[in-house]
Parts: sequence; C-alpha cells; structure tokens
Amino acid sequence: MRKIAVVEGDGIGHEVIPVARSVLEMLHPEFDFFPVEVGYGMWERTGCPCADKEIRELKGADAILFGAITTPPMKDYQSVVLRIRKALDLYANLRPVPGNGFDIMIVRENTEGLYSGIEEAGPDRATTLRVVSRHGTERIVRAAIRLARERSGLLTIGHKANVIKSDVFFRDICLAEAKAAGIPYNDKFIDALSLDLLQHPKNYNVVVTTNMFGDILSDVASYLVGGLGLVPSANIGDQYALFEPVHGSAPDIAGKNIANPIAAIRSAVMLLDYLGDKAGAVRAETAIETVLAQGIRTRDLGGSAGTQEFGNAVLKVLRQQM
Ligand code: NAD
Ligand code: IPM
Ligand code: MN
Repeated sequence: MRKIAVVEGDGIGHEVIPVARSVLEMLHPEFDFFPVEVGYGMWERTGCPCADKEIRELKGADAILFGAITTPPMKDYQSVVLRIRKALDLYANLRPVPGNGFDIMIVRENTEGLYSGIEEAGPDRATTLRVVSRHGTERIVRAAIRLARERSGLLTIGHKANVIKSDVFFRDICLAEAKAAGIPYNDKFIDALSLDLLQHPKNYNVVVTTNMFGDILSDVASYLVGGLGLVPSANIGDQYALFEPVHGSAPDIAGKNIANPIAAIRSAVMLLDYLGDKAGAVRAETAIETVLAQGIRTRDLGGSAGTQEFGNAVLKVLRQQM
C-alpha cells in the first residue's frame, strides 16, 4: 500500500491541499494518507517549525503532497521548505507550464546555488555564497536531458555567464552534457530568456537553470497560463519525492475559500504520474479541464467559484466517470 504524507502547511495550504487529497482519495481509496505538521503555525505553537521527527516521517512516505509554508519575518529562521529539500536531497524541481501551442518544463536546480545556506550578516555587510558544484550541475542537467529526450524537445540552458563565474561553470557543464547527449540545445542569458519566454513560448520546451533563477522564472512563466493558481511542481530526488504548487501560502487570501486549487490538484497529478498511475494522472487533469470548460472558475481566473466548489466540481466529474 502506498503511503502518502500530507503536509497542508500554512495559509491557503489548509484550503487547497484537502481538495488535492480528495482527488487522490477518489482515485486511490487504498492509499494510506498520513498528516505531517510543519511550518509557521507549528512554530507558533511549539517553537519549532520542523524537527527531525517530521523529517523522519516524511522519509517514511512513498510520496509527499505539500501545501506551502509561511516564512516568518525574523532573523535566523531556517526555511522549512529548504530544509526538507536538502534533507531529502530533492535536487530536481520540475515546474511544467503547458499552454496553448506550447509545453514548457522548467527544470530548476533545487539544492544549491544562492540557496546554499552559507551566508552571514554583519552590521555593514551581508554575504551569501552561491555554490554551483560539478555534481549538482551534472545531475540536474542530466535530468533535464532525460526530459528533453522524452519530450523530443529543445533544451535551453538559462544562466548569467556574462557576469557570474559560477554561471560560466554551470553553462559549460550543461553545454558539454547536452552536446555529448546529442540532443538539440541552446543557451540564453536568464534576463533575456525571461522576456523571450513570455513573448515566444513556443520556442521553448525544457529550460534548465540554477536554483534562484528557476524560482523567479517559474513565477514569471505562470503568467502564460493564468497565474500562480495553476502551476504545480515536483521536487524529485533519487529516493524521495515531494509535490507542491509553485505558489506560496498566500496570506492575503487565506481563510476566504477563494484560492484556486488547480495548482494543488495538478501537483497531485504529478504525484500520480511519479507513482506510475499515468491513467489516473490523465483522468484528474482531464477533470480539471472539463470543469474549466463548464465555465466554473475561481476568482483569479475571473470566476466566482470558491476553492471547495471548484474542488467539488472536479470530484463530481471524476465520480461520473467511475
Ligand atoms: P504567494 O505565491 O503566496 O502569493 C503571491 C500572490 O499570488 C498573492 O497575491 C496570492 O494571493 C496569489 N496566489 C497565490 N496562490 C494562489 C492561488 N492558489 N489562488 C489564487 N491566488 C493565488 O507568494 P508571496 O505572497 O510572495 O508569499 C507568501 C508566503 O508564502 C511567504 O511567507 C513565502 O515565503 C511563502 N512561500 C512559500 C512557498 C512554499 O512553501 N513552497 C512558496 C512560495 C512562497
Ligand atoms: C518556491 C518558494 C520557495 C523557494 C521558498 C518559500 C523557500 O518560493 O518553492 O518557489 O524559494 O524555493
Ligand atoms: Mn518561488
């Protein structure tokens, strides 16, 4: 039996993750779901946002469904999301943005770069070490190459090698790997790439880049398909996998039943795909499309349906198919 850890997290995580979980439950009543609490809420209650115990629990799952965590505005708070990504070595962050006539997959390095955690802040200067390792670069570009092959698509390497030495290093390793793999590839400066992706999305398929650039690029790319409420992600390592929307805990709309649950449901779709249930993944994605075609939309897409109403409409479509 598959064990699925469910982390609602904070903010709208409490609203969109239950919807995504219901979709999984309907398709797989045999899954063993267990909750794991981490995040800001837990920190407020216990003084600790995520302990070794929770990391152990997450490691016990076959896959993790994750909401979002609110990062508190204080010194010396270690991001729970980053801690989990590092502890589980979830090095590949896959952020698909499929749209009308294009199908983009952002492959974001997920363990190093500007997120190395090697930093210090003094009274007059703060520094963060941007770490780009050969090992980290090889494994992310190889993951991107596998995807480009599967999708018969172009691989684009996003970097800032005109300025940053660690990006020269990243670009050169990526170029060498792509060349050796014999796949079509090109490379672009990340600033120009960000605009070109919006202007000519059809020219892109797989885009591989470093951690922070991938973070920014994925929020930007969501503009192509209707915003953050729609885009999911998979955080994949060699042993563990975690699925979460690209968006955060959205405190501005939390608790109002207006958040779009599509990104969370699509994260569940990626989870099903990862666990080998391709048919279930297609069914859930098709159910989302059907509900949208019925004109049922949340506020961010110009509609008036609530989070739960949208979720119920998806469940209804799935139930009718059974
Ligand atoms: P955010 O993604 O939470 O929200 C940005 C904007 O998009 C907000 O206006 C929000 O209302 C809107 N939005 C986001 N998701 C939506 C949805 N499903 N439906 C409709 N509208 C949606 O980013 P933020 O406001 O910059 O960050 C809020 C908090 O979330 C911060 O503490 C941040 O650190 C955290 N965060 C966590 C994660 C994560 O845990 N994976 C990811 C990103 C941000
Ligand atoms: C994301 C988020 C996280 C990141 C934060 C909350 C640590 O923005 O998953 O995109 O920067 O990776
Ligand atoms: Mn982000």
